Amino acid sequence: MQKNTLVLTIKYLTHLYKISIIIILLLQFSCKQEGRIKTLSFAHNLPVSHPVHKGVEAFKTHLENISEGKLTLKIYANGQLGSEREVLELLQIGSVSMTKVSGAAMSNFVPEYRVLGVPYLFRDKSHLFKVLEGEIGEQLLQKGTASWLRGLCFYDAGSRSFYTKNKFIKKPEDLDGVKIRVMSDKMSVAMVEALGGAPTPMSFGELYTALQQGVVDGAENNAPSFVTSRHFEICKYYSLDAHSYVPDVVIMGTKFLNLLTKEEQQWVFDAAKKSAQDQKKFWKVSEDTSMDILKESGVEFFKPNKGLFADKTRQIKTAFIKNEEMKILIENIESIK
Ligand code: GCU
Repeated sequence: MQKNTLVLTIKYLTHLYKISIIIILLLQFSCKQEGRIKTLSFAHNLPVSHPVHKGVEAFKTHLENISEGKLTLKIYANGQLGSEREVLELLQIGSVSMTKVSGAAMSNFVPEYRVLGVPYLFRDKSHLFKVLEGEIGEQLLQKGTASWLRGLCFYDAGSRSFYTKNKFIKKPEDLDGVKIRVMSDKMSVAMVEALGGAPTPMSFGELYTALQQGVVDGAENNAPSFVTSRHFEICKYYSLDAHSYVPDVVIMGTKFLNLLTKEEQQWVFDAAKKSAQDQKKFWKVSEDTSMDILKESGVEFFKPNKGLFADKTRQIKTAFIKNEEMKILIENIESIK
């Protein structure tokens, strides 16, 4: 080999060596960076235009800020990973880290949550949040731990009212024989039964088709869910009887929670609590705009005499308070001013 060629080859190899060192360093750096970020999966069943989804996005932002980028969320909306019940089961076995479900769905796993769906128990939104953000709410959030489901915070889910395809529900008698889709929990079934309707439990994701095909004649929900699910394209009668204020609840599987350090767990708790305050604001805006959208879409409203519905459903509370623990819980809730 000639001297010149040898020098060139050595220079070329040195250059190649330097480049490989830089590549290895870059790779190591990016791996470390990636390795340091823990991604928690968060699945829920509502559309991305829903104020609850916006709350979950705020949770992600708070978590990234509080943890200085060490923890983040990957959000799966729209029931991509299953119904509320299915996702709660995924949390229990540690396949998904977090979810947001209705308190009604949680009551299938933690019976105390049933109290949140007792018709006409909460006087109004402010009463509800005094309970949820006080000692009773905190106890409920912690109760789930025994079922591997730790509650982190509550989200506003407004009040639930009937919407139907063919006629208004102006008084309980109008529900006679009417098939109403309800959430799959005992309290929701008992509520429609007490009013004389035919309760049909099914998951939220199945409801649009069920309404379209006449499997059910109506359902009940808050205005933002009525709008974002587009059920208003089929149901044109909304009777604002506000029979329950059952809230949503953000849950973390304890299988996953226990994998985090104490410091990381605290970041998750703090970010969740902060997101709950944001979510209430998103809710307020969405509730107002949803009512406008419904009006513009030709949905008619009726404000029934709530007392008629409250009278018919009173038996639910009577049955409920036969259990001493539930009696105390209800008395405590009612005593909060
Ligand atoms: C509300 C609630 C959901 C729930 C839904 C339902 O939209 O936020 O969590 O799934 O009602 O009626 O199933």
